[in-house]
Amino acid sequence: MDSFPIFLLCVFFINLTYGNVIVSTKYGDVLGTKTDKALQFLGIPFAKPPVGDLRWRSPESPESWSPNVYNATVRAPGCPQKFCTKYLPDSGCPTETSEDCLYLNVWTPLNAQNSMKYPVMVFLHGGAFKWGYPAADVYDGNNIANHGEVVLVTVAYRIGLLGFLYTGERKADSHGNYGLQDQRLALNWVRENIQNFGGDPGKVMLFGESAGAQSVFIHMVSPKSIGLFHSAAVQSAPFGIPYRTKLQALGVANAIYLLAGCFIGDVKCLRSKSAEEIDEAQEKSMLAPTSLKVINYFEPIGPIIDEEENPLQPMDALRQNKVRNVPTILGTLKDEGRMFIHGFLNTSLPPVLYEAALGIFKPSHFFQINKEYPLPSGEKDLRDTLSQVATDYLFTCSNRNVSRLRVKHNMETYRFVFEHASDYPSPTSDHSFCEKHVCHAAELPYLFGNFLGRNVTENEINMSREMMSYWTNFAHTGNPNNGRSVPDIKWPAYEYENSKNATMHFITPKDELIENYRDDFCDFWDTVDYEK
Ligand SMILES: *[C@@H]1O[C@H](CO)[C@@H](O)[C@H](O)[C@H]1NC(C)=O
Ligand SMILES: *[C@@H]1O[C@H](CO)[C@@H](O)[C@H](O)[C@H]1NC(C)=O
Ligand SMILES: *[C@@H]1O[C@H](CO)[C@@H](O)[C@H](O)[C@H]1NC(C)=O
Ligand SMILES: *[C@@H]1O[C@H](CO)[C@@H](O)[C@H](O)[C@H]1NC(C)=O
Ligand SMILES: *[C@@H]1O[C@H](CO)[C@@H](O)[C@H](O)[C@H]1NC(C)=O
Ligand SMILES: *[C@@H]1O[C@H](CO)[C@@H](O)[C@H](O)[C@H]1NC(C)=O
Repeated sequence: MDSFPIFLLCVFFINLTYGNVIVSTKYGDVLGTKTDKALQFLGIPFAKPPVGDLRWRSPESPESWSPNVYNATVRAPGCPQKFCTKYLPDSGCPTETSEDCLYLNVWTPLNAQNSMKYPVMVFLHGGAFKWGYPAADVYDGNNIANHGEVVLVTVAYRIGLLGFLYTGERKADSHGNYGLQDQRLALNWVRENIQNFGGDPGKVMLFGESAGAQSVFIHMVSPKSIGLFHSAAVQSAPFGIPYRTKLQALGVANAIYLLAGCFIGDVKCLRSKSAEEIDEAQEKSMLAPTSLKVINYFEPIGPIIDEEENPLQPMDALRQNKVRNVPTILGTLKDEGRMFIHGFLNTSLPPVLYEAALGIFKPSHFFQINKEYPLPSGEKDLRDTLSQVATDYLFTCSNRNVSRLRVKHNMETYRFVFEHASDYPSPTSDHSFCEKHVCHAAELPYLFGNFLGRNVTENEINMSREMMSYWTNFAHTGNPNNGRSVPDIKWPAYEYENSKNATMHFITPKDELIENYRDDFCDFWDTVDYEK
């Protein structure tokens, strides 16, 4: 174990002279680092390693390591994942992976003491429930903790088949949704321990991007997550993609058995495989027909609908008024669909195939969709047009619908659209199609203030500061305008019937308030319906 004995009587915070700091937790003391901006604790275990008999089991709290002190000065490995950098910028991927990956990271202001009661922001990373790493450079919490006087916690959760395989209801089976349970265990860890880091367990903001945002929404609905957080931000959730039912998930499992060299139903055989072998079967299954719904291929693995963890599709939950009412920031980016379409089609999409490609979204409404997004004349490559369809349907319009449903139920909602294409070049050639576009996840470097050595303009720095102010204010008060910082523009709560300018538009040179963002297209998609 990564810990060592220390002959000191430690009560809560001990500032050691050499740039290190010790904080006690329920499971033992942890040694962190004092940076120039914050106190940083990396790789704190919040669960027993989910390996061996604990693979495909609900996570359990860790063993105590007391009286040793846990060395939380170095990052823990990420959860197993292949090809992360092909889909996410490398600043969002782990350099080392292990099935033993349930660790969290904490950043707290430099002068934190256990009596401080700073608000706590808990971040769930994205990556289609297949990729991502909470200790990635882009999520480093030094800037946000320092800027907003908040405690930032980024948490790992099991991803891919190790987090979400569903094989059935027998005791030996894998029951799915373990990644969600990991997230909840981390929230419980926060409730029990964060006060020692200067945080207020009664003031937790849960925020996430993409799959992380979908997770945040699930915790607003799941009966098991009641009371664990008090405000939220849901960034770029693809509400247009439905979760699989158990029956549909069995289609994935059956493919996996065969690809892993096991008989269908032989879970013991799957359990005997290495994480590497499971990962390989997972990659091969991406090409196998495991669902009749083509749209499921945008997120081939992930949460399933089940009573306790994820009882309802998100919009059904809203319509049935089953979403807990916490103030929420909710929004999307200009070109969300681009990464999905270009990730699939790395060569051009000729006009003759355009209409066939439109069929992936909602086969039952093919003619209407084709009329709304007709083949533009003279275009040789239709990927941009198809990306716009994906952006509108999966993100912009489904999120507008969610915002409106929330308003109907009197839930305070702050809506944003992020529309700034970075002025610096794309990090890798794999992502060159995002250059000059506002791809999925493009807001994250600005929100966390982490530009990783890139040359940013003053306008970009200003926009970043504004975003950090809104989000950290929100953690303090549940209102983006009130807290430690005074942003330049007052961001009103979203409403749509009075047609006020109530959508925050993050853009350079200056943020602004807008209305009617792609409303014509969204009115159309509302007639088509989502999720079904
Ligand atoms: C913590 O771990 C790192 C990396 O293994 C090591 O360099 C460092 O010396 C350790 N710190 C202590 C106090 O053991
Ligand atoms: C597209 O992807 C395929 C399969 O991954 C690869 O073989 C091919 O080289 C790629 N083409 C381009 C133009 O990148
Ligand atoms: C950084 O950006 C500024 C302003 O756009 C430009 O003048 C300068 O040359 C850039 N420096 C580098 C190293 O790219
Ligand atoms: C950036 O913000 C600072 C402080 O509000 C302001 O003085 C400056 O003019 C802004 N820069 C630009 C380019 O708008
Ligand atoms: C309201 O939004 C419209 C269009 O989005 C814009 O032209 C107008 O300037 C905005 N008004 C204010 C007060 O921000
Ligand atoms: C949301 O979309 C549904 C169709 O999916 C539509 O019937 C409903 O009117 C929309 N709700 C709001 C509040 O816009």
